[in-house]
Amino acid sequence: MFEITKIQLDHQRNPIGVNTLPKLSWALECDQRDVVQTNYQLQISKQAEFEEILYDSYYVKSSQSMNIELPEVSCEDFTKYYMRVRVKSNKLEETKWATTYFVTGYVQTKCSASMITIEDTLKLENAETYYVRKEFDSNKEIESVYCVATAFGLYKLHLNGEQVGDYKLTPGWTSYTNNLMYQVYDVTSMMIEGKNTIGAMVGAGWYKGSFGFDRRSNMYGDQAGFLCEVHIKYTDGSSQVIASDDSWKGHLSPIVMANIYDGETYDARKEIAGWSLAGLDTKNWVDLTTISYDQQILRPQICEPVQVIDQIEPTELFMTPEKDQVIDFGQNMSGLVELKVKGKKDDVIELNFFEVLDKDGNVYLDNLRGAKQTITYIFAKDEEIVYLPTFTFQGFRYARIKEFPGEAKVENFLALVISSGMERTGYIETSNEEVNQLVHNILWGLNGNFVDVPTDCPQRDERMGWTGDAQVFARTACYLKNCYSFYKKYLVDLAYDQTEEGGVPHVVPDVLSGHGEDNFLISQGTDSAAGWADAAVIIPWTLYQVYGDDDILSTQYDSMKAWIDFMRKHSEDYIWSYKLQFGDWVALDAEEGSYFGATPNPLMCAAYSAYSTQLFINSAKVLGNQKDVIFYTDYLSKIVDKYHREFFDEKGQLKVQTQTAHIISLYFDLVPVGSKELVAEGLIKLLEKENGHLVTGFLGTPYFCSALSQNGKVKEAYDLFLKNDFPSWLYQVKMGATTIWEHWDGIKPDGSMWSPDMNSFNHYAYGAIGEWIQRTMVGIEVDDLNPGYSHYYIQPLVDSRFSFVKGSLMTQFGEIKSKWELDDGKVTLSIRVPVNTSCTILLKQANEIVESDVNQTFIKGEDGLSICVGCGDYKVTFSLK
Ligand code: BGC
Repeated sequence: MFEITKIQLDHQRNPIGVNTLPKLSWALECDQRDVVQTNYQLQISKQAEFEEILYDSYYVKSSQSMNIELPEVSCEDFTKYYMRVRVKSNKLEETKWATTYFVTGYVQTKCSASMITIEDTLKLENAETYYVRKEFDSNKEIESVYCVATAFGLYKLHLNGEQVGDYKLTPGWTSYTNNLMYQVYDVTSMMIEGKNTIGAMVGAGWYKGSFGFDRRSNMYGDQAGFLCEVHIKYTDGSSQVIASDDSWKGHLSPIVMANIYDGETYDARKEIAGWSLAGLDTKNWVDLTTISYDQQILRPQICEPVQVIDQIEPTELFMTPEKDQVIDFGQNMSGLVELKVKGKKDDVIELNFFEVLDKDGNVYLDNLRGAKQTITYIFAKDEEIVYLPTFTFQGFRYARIKEFPGEAKVENFLALVISSGMERTGYIETSNEEVNQLVHNILWGLNGNFVDVPTDCPQRDERMGWTGDAQVFARTACYLKNCYSFYKKYLVDLAYDQTEEGGVPHVVPDVLSGHGEDNFLISQGTDSAAGWADAAVIIPWTLYQVYGDDDILSTQYDSMKAWIDFMRKHSEDYIWSYKLQFGDWVALDAEEGSYFGATPNPLMCAAYSAYSTQLFINSAKVLGNQKDVIFYTDYLSKIVDKYHREFFDEKGQLKVQTQTAHIISLYFDLVPVGSKELVAEGLIKLLEKENGHLVTGFLGTPYFCSALSQNGKVKEAYDLFLKNDFPSWLYQVKMGATTIWEHWDGIKPDGSMWSPDMNSFNHYAYGAIGEWIQRTMVGIEVDDLNPGYSHYYIQPLVDSRFSFVKGSLMTQFGEIKSKWELDDGKVTLSIRVPVNTSCTILLKQANEIVESDVNQTFIKGEDGLSICVGCGDYKVTFSLK
C-alpha cells in the first residue's frame, strides 16, 4: 500500500475565491519502512476527468511534498480548477492519482459592486436588522454561478428562497477599515431558469453593534451595509454579473434585535413570506443607497469560516431551588440553540443562556456582566416552528426557560456548537481519567474561543481578541487543530492595527484604541504590554515551526520587526517600559484584590523582549536576512547581559523570589551559565513554600511544567501537574469543569465564586498546559531546523503514575503516533513515523534497551539513548534508570 491520503491547498481543504494560486501539500501513507518520495507529477485541468490538461509537470525528481508553489498558469475568474498528484517512492512504488480542487475569485477583474444600505432611507435602532433583495433573469443554459458576498456588519445570504452556504457570522471579524473579507459560494445548483432572486438579511454585528467595555456602537461605521456580486457563466460562452447597487430594495426584517452579546429577538409576525423569492409584491419595500468604501480593503476569505462543528442534545431539564426551569447541555460551549416548538399566535419563547449554577444550584448570571445572552421568539400564528438565531452567539452550558408556550421538553432544544471550521489534528489519551477530562476541556476552550478571532472568552461582554491569551495558547492550539490559516488571518489584522511606532494593541482587531477614556484599560493604554504584544513574533514563529511554511515569516516580518524596534525605542539601558503592563496577569501571588501578579514589570518586559528578539533572529535566519541577524544578535546579547546584572545576585540566584520569575528565566534561557541547577532548585523551594502549588498567572503558568522537566525535575513537574486540590489544573476538573476557567478559583472549594467582574468559565489561557502534555508527556517535539515535522523528535518523559500515555498528530506529511506503556519498571514505546519524514527517538530516562524492532542500535549520548528512523511503525522496550 502506498497512497496519498490528504491534499491541502494553502493549509486548507478546497479554498474558494482565491486570487493567487494556492500552495500545495500532500500526505502519504504506506505499510513499509523507510519510504521516501522520489518523484511527483502534478496536473491541472478545468475538468474533473482531466480531458484537457492545462499544466503537466511530468515526473519531477523531488522529495518535496509540502508547500509546493504552483506554476504560473493563467487562471480565469470564478472557475474551478482541478489538480491531481501522483508520487513515486524509493521502493519503486507509485500511488494512484489523488485529486483536489480550488476555485478562483477575482484574478483578472475587480469587484464592481456597491456597498448598499437601508440606513439612509430608514432610521434603524442599532440592533435592528434588514432584508435586501433583487430579482434578475437568467434564461440560458448555465455552466456555473458563483456568488460573492460581504457586509459592513453581518449577513445571511439567500437565493431563490434558500439559504446560501452554512457559514455563521459572515463575513467574520477583521480590522474592517483595512481588511474586509468576502466569501464566495458556488450557487450553480440553486439557480432556476427565468426569474431568480438574490437577497440577504443584514445585521450590525461587530461593525456597528454595541460592543466592548463601554458598549459603544458604530465602532467602524454608523451604517450596516451589504455587498454582493453574482457571476454567471453560460454554456454558450457568454457571462453575466449581477452586482449590488441602488436598484436593490430593502425592508426591516423580523429580527428586531440582534447583538453579539445580548442575543436576538425574532418577531415572526414581521416575517415577509417569500422575501427572497421572485414575484414578491415589493411596494412596501424601500430604496437603498450606496455607502462609499475603499476597494482595496476587499480580500478573499483566507481561513475556515465559522460553522456548526457539533450538535449536542440536552442532558437534562430540571427545576432549580428558586423555581427556574433550566436546560443542561452538559458541556460549556459557544453556540446557538435550535428550537423546535409548537405555539400559538403571540406566544413567546424566551431563553437566557449562562455557564454555571451557583452554590445552591440556582441560575448564575452575574459573571456575564452586561451581556444579556437572551433569545426571544414571538409566534406569528398557530404552528410548529424551527428557529435558529442568526446574528449572535452565546457562551453557555445552560439555558433558563423564562417563557415557553406549554410544557418544555428536552426534544424542543438542540445546541449547535459553532467554531471556526479547522480540521482536528491532535488526540491525547492517558490512563488518568482526570487528565483526559483536562485534555477535553482544553479542546473545548479552543472550540469556544476560536470564533473567527481567538477570543479571551465567549460569554460576558468582552469576547475580544486578546493578544496575550492568543500567544500563550498558540502552540497548544496547533497541536489540537490545523490553525495555520486561522492565525494567519489574525496576524494580518494584528499588523494592520499596530501603532505607527510598531506598538501592538492589547486586542486584535483593536476595538479599544480611540474609543473613549473612561474605562480603566482604555485610559491607561491600549497597546504594547509584555507577553501580550509579543504575539506579533511568537505566533508567526510557532506557525513556522509547526507548519514549516516560511511564507508566514515573510508576510509578518515587518510587523515582527516593528514590535522589536518598539521595545528598543522604549528601552532605557536595555529594559523597556511603556504605559499599562499586565505582567503575570491574575497570578495568585497578587496583592489582595489585585489582578497584577507579584513578578515586577521590568523583569517581565526584559524577559519577553529577549525571547521575542531571539525568535525574530531565528526568523531573519530562515529568510536569509543576514544584516538583521547580526544587528539583533548583538542587541540581544546586551539585553541578556543586563538581565543577568539586574535580576541575579553574584551567586547566580534570582533576586526576584516569585515562581514566574524563575519559570520564565529558565524557559527563555536567561539564566547565567552554570546557574540553571540553582535556579531550578530555587523554583522547587518556592513550590514547597506553597505546599507544592502554583501561584502563577497567564505568563508563568504555561511554562511551569516545562521549566521543571527541562531542567531535570521530571518528577516534580508531574507532581505539580497531577495536583487536584486548589489551585491546580485538575482542581477545575474535580469541580466539574467542561472547559478551562479564567481563575484558579473561579468556583471556590466551598462553592462560592470569584468576583463576578471577571470570572469566565471558558477562557483557554491556562489550557496552554496542553503544549507540555503533547511535547513532554506524549513526547512529540518539532525540530526547528526541519520545521513542519519533516524531521522531529519522539522523546517522552514517563512517570510511574501513568500506565499509558498516547497521542497522535496529523501533520502535513501524515499522522505521527506515539504511545508509551509502563509495566513493571519497563516502558514500551510504540510509534508511527509518516512517509517522507524522519524521527529521532530520544530516550532520556532509559537505562538500557530490553527489546526493539528498530534495525539499528541506539546510541548513547549526553541526553540519553537515541536513534534516527525513517517512516514506519516501531516498538522499543527499555528499562528505566
Ligand atoms: C481578559 C484577559 C486578558 C486580560 C488582559 C481580561 O479582561 O479577559 O483574558 O488577557 O483582560 O488584562
